[in-house]
Amino acid sequence: MEDVSDPPFRYVCKQNGVDLMYTEFISSEGLIRDAAKSIQKLDIFEYERPIGIQIFGSNIESMREASAVASKANPDLIDINYGCPVKNVACKGAGASLLQDIDKMVKMTKAVVEATHLPVTVKTRLGWDDSTKNVYEVAERLQEVGIKALTIHGRTRSQMYKGEADWRLIRDIKRNPNIEIPIFGNGDVDSAEKAFAWRKEFEVDGIMIGRASIGYPWIFREVKHFFNTGEFLPGPTISERVEVCRTHFMKSVEWKGEKVGIFEMRRHYANYFKGLPNSKDLRNRLVSLNSVVEINHVLDEISETYSEVLVG
Ligand SMILES: Cc1cc2nc3c(=O)[nH]c(=O)nc-3n(C[C@H](O)[C@H](O)[C@H](O)COP(=O)(O)O)c2cc1C
Repeated sequence: MEDVSDPPFRYVCKQNGVDLMYTEFISSEGLIRDAAKSIQKLDIFEYERPIGIQIFGSNIESMREASAVASKANPDLIDINYGCPVKNVACKGAGASLLQDIDKMVKMTKAVVEATHLPVTVKTRLGWDDSTKNVYEVAERLQEVGIKALTIHGRTRSQMYKGEADWRLIRDIKRNPNIEIPIFGNGDVDSAEKAFAWRKEFEVDGIMIGRASIGYPWIFREVKHFFNTGEFLPGPTISERVEVCRTHFMKSVEWKGEKVGIFEMRRHYANYFKGLPNSKDLRNRLVSLNSVVEINHVLDEISETYSEVLVG
């Protein structure tokens, strides 16, 4: 997820049992022009494996080159984003906009596959809008040009993030006898119970979880525990919340430098402390501070003050 799935965030997800992770999407144009912001997103670490680097773009040749550049960073796989709905991506011919031109999508995918020795996976949506839900055809044609797995977000581009994800078409694809690659379902999974129920109901090979992990990386261990035992794992204690938030924070500072690390961590506090009494005040205090020591003091204080409080 853009502005979320950087190495500090991925670190706490990995600690909590995630099986497979992807980088934020990276602009193919940025990569081939050596733009610092895009190049920094290629930073991956051994402990993160298996990890995929996700690229996006509108130009086939740029995507071919970006595939080669990203492969040199030595991830376990390359992923193509054909799902992003936001205007400055989808209206510039990238992301979900390729759902409007399957021939081009197929050519682009073939180019990315040819340019790397790594497995290539794809992430997309049901279609552009309600009247053009073409992911069934997309799945067959992308499998033909060599993708190794497909993740489908159960919304159309025009839905953006509104309404509810509909996984029925994802199940249809799973039932297509021509489809041999793994199909992963995505959209609205926010609990272990739902992950279990939807995996069974929609017959997918795996589930991808996005927003529910922001400020709550424990979702991964909870899902795995439920799959393995059929039992709910209790949620994190307050001190665990604080310690994971602190790890996320310290990794941010380590990876981004103090100034940017402190600044970019600010978007996460509200999620880590959701449900605590005074969570708004806590967040407001944390985002007003500019030093690592002060922030750590407030985190200590939260741990001490709320150690007896149960959340959720
Ligand atoms: C802030 C944000 C950033 C996202 N960035 C990406 C991205 O870079 N690549 C991608 O494939 N999907 C991205 N997504 C979409 C999610 O991966 C996912 O498909 C969508 O949020 C639905 O799943 P969820 O309900 O589990 O969050 C992003 C979503 C959010 C909320």
